[in-house]
Amino acid sequence: MSRTLLIVKPDAAERNLIGHIISRLEKSRYKIVEMKMVRLTEEVTRKFYAVHEGQPFLDDLVAFMTSGPVVPMALEKDNAVEDLRILIGATNPETAACGTIRFEIGKNIEKNSVHASDSDENAAKEIAFFF
Ligand code: CMP
Repeated sequence: MSRTLLIVKPDAAERNLIGHIISRLEKSRYKIVEMKMVRLTEEVTRKFYAVHEGQPFLDDLVAFMTSGPVVPMALEKDNAVEDLRILIGATNPETAACGTIRFEIGKNIEKNSVHASDSDENAAKEIAFFF
């Protein structure tokens, strides 16, 4: 078993899609081991996305992620990180594979409904960041 972090982003929470995302995760055999609804501050969001410091999209990303509640959750499953990246699809919903969560409900590269850890190392850091 391994763990990863998923965040339901404000665009999905605002459209009442939290339950839908949880259902997709549970049907894909993920166990939710931690979960909460939080309103992120600018400071916390900048810390979380520190790896994107200097990127042209960072300010807009921070404004978006602080615009409404988000739902971080720690998920457990065999091969959790890699399988979740497959389940959510590419960062840009326009290029995400058919059937993935971002293909299904993502609006654009910023409002892409969910974040997921990209490696086991980052998953451990991101879970510790929120829980
Ligand atoms: P996420 O997985 O949360 O990681 C960083 C986020 O930055 C990403 O999803 C996108 O929502 C957002 N983003 C906005 N513009 C870009 C871009 N040009 N390239 C990558 N990520 C972007």
